[in-house]
Amino acid sequence: MAVPTTLIQPSKPRRVPTAVLISGRGSNMEALLAASRDPAFPAEITLVLSNNPGAPGLASAAKQGIEAMAIDHRPFGRDREAHERALQEVLVAHGIQLVCLAGYMRVLTPWLVGRWEGRMLNIHPALLPKFPGLHTHERALEAGEGQHGCTVHLVTAGVDEGPILGQASVPVLAGDTPATLGARVLAREHELYPAMLARSAQAILDGQ
Ligand code: GAR
Repeated sequence: MAVPTTLIQPSKPRRVPTAVLISGRGSNMEALLAASRDPAFPAEITLVLSNNPGAPGLASAAKQGIEAMAIDHRPFGRDREAHERALQEVLVAHGIQLVCLAGYMRVLTPWLVGRWEGRMLNIHPALLPKFPGLHTHERALEAGEGQHGCTVHLVTAGVDEGPILGQASVPVLAGDTPATLGARVLAREHELYPAMLARSAQAILDGQ
């Protein structure tokens, strides 16, 4: 008599397909990629996009086997939305469900932001709501802050204004320059961003 058998297939952990958008160096992207290499990490980074074809992070991602693509904003001139429509087409074609801005240095229009409501994260190198915008480390030093740091927040139409998901702080030390302070903050960014991505992706998997 044939013995009934059950085919047991190892279930692949469900993960949230995630894209990282960069404009340059990509050290936060590297931190996110490193975290997502763990199959138990709830987000899987499947795409890296840049507005800058020369972004060093693109080559690095491609070397690690991640699809990496540039959509240069320059041919689109002042038509920001047209550039974003091209980005959106690629994001949709890749089945992306969560987007991480990681040093993506273009202000997004409400059109793209509206398509990713609650699903687009950004990292900012300051303790928001302090110091939105650029040159945050210089401004923190000029203001005589005792603490500085970084913030991961949801992206909304107002620049650096969306709901805060998490923050990490560092002390400002005597003799700090924007470079030394910035390096101390960056080390915390590399811890904070993967942790916040994990939390957001897990919430999606849990249907929250
Ligand atoms: C990071 O410090 C990030 O917080 C900042 O740009 C740097 C990118 O570095 N982002 C912004 O200022 C956004 N307004 P990275 O390319 O090495 O991740």
